[in-house]
Amino acid sequence: MRQKLTPLSEWARREDIPHSTARKMVAEGRIRAQKIGDRWYVVEDIPEDAIKGGMVLTLFTHAGGAGKTSLARDLGFELASRGKRVLLVDMDPQANLSAWLGFEDVGERDTVLPVFEGADLPAPKGVYPNLDLIPSHVELARGEVSLSREPHNTFALRAALNALRERYDYILVDSLPSLGSLAATAALAADGLVVPVELSRKGVQALGTVIGVAEAYGKALMRMRLWSGRFFVFLVVPTHAEGTARDREVLRLLQERLGEKVPVAPALSRRPAVYREAQTRGIPVQLVGSPEVVAELRGVADLVESLVKKRLEEVGV
Ligand SMILES: Nc1ncnc2c1ncn2[C@@H]1O[C@H](COP(=O)(O)OP(=O)(O)O)[C@@H](O)[C@H]1O
Ligand SMILES: [Mg+2]
Repeated sequence: MRQKLTPLSEWARREDIPHSTARKMVAEGRIRAQKIGDRWYVVEDIPEDAIKGGMVLTLFTHAGGAGKTSLARDLGFELASRGKRVLLVDMDPQANLSAWLGFEDVGERDTVLPVFEGADLPAPKGVYPNLDLIPSHVELARGEVSLSREPHNTFALRAALNALRERYDYILVDSLPSLGSLAATAALAADGLVVPVELSRKGVQALGTVIGVAEAYGKALMRMRLWSGRFFVFLVVPTHAEGTARDREVLRLLQERLGEKVPVAPALSRRPAVYREAQTRGIPVQLVGSPEVVAELRGVADLVESLVKKRLEEVGV
């Protein structure tokens, strides 16, 4: 594993530990450090995700209708139109993402299913310039069965997507509304979770569970030195906003629950007609022609890009 050296003072600042405590930790051998000249450096492993570039983000929440699939489609399209190379991975046996992008007639071997059976990922399909898709099929539900029989395959998707990190700047995985093994596989393949939250009490309640589950996933990946970030929830995106006083109250609750830990994106407004049209025409919502929708998605994409930049700086590559 590649390593990097971080000056002890800088490391202590980053970890929010007094410098004297950090010195003590070095003296007691509690952190790996090395003296070069007269300065101490902390020796840190560079995790696999940082080395290979390309960011894997999973749209994750067990709440149905929160906006995972819509956001995967539209954020993917927005990033691709900025020249980023984007791969969308449909992990939901309902296959909405695939259907909404015009890929209804696919076979089960075109999906991620083969990776749970020891084979390779299929070649992604081109949707738009810079935007590819590994579609889904109702039979992907069988993945749940193979995973219960062969639980070690929980990491098969992570391994398969890792091999694609050099070809894509973003890999967006659209998870299913569950906390079962397929959803775990989708989450554990990621560098972070993007969590759409419907602005309602139900939405905020679901978020509590997601945060708990995400923390457990993050810790597991950290122990395996596969991931080095701080919070596995990368971004929370409030959805179905109607600009009412009640919405503002729910947003306040949301911020309160998340504290400083997790960034919250500007909310996406509820626009049933526009989203319905996008679905029937099989296009990203930005192409329906509403400037407000375009601006909202740009805002989310700007935030995603700046968070990725910050994260890469943090891990020092
Ligand atoms: N901002 C929005 N305004 C109105 N309808 C929306 C919006 N975002 C998503 N929808 C609609 O809500 C439904 C659920 O969204 P979807 O993206 O499928 O959520 P999930 O994947 O989390 O179940 C879809 O029919 C979608 O078109
Ligand atoms: Mg969905």
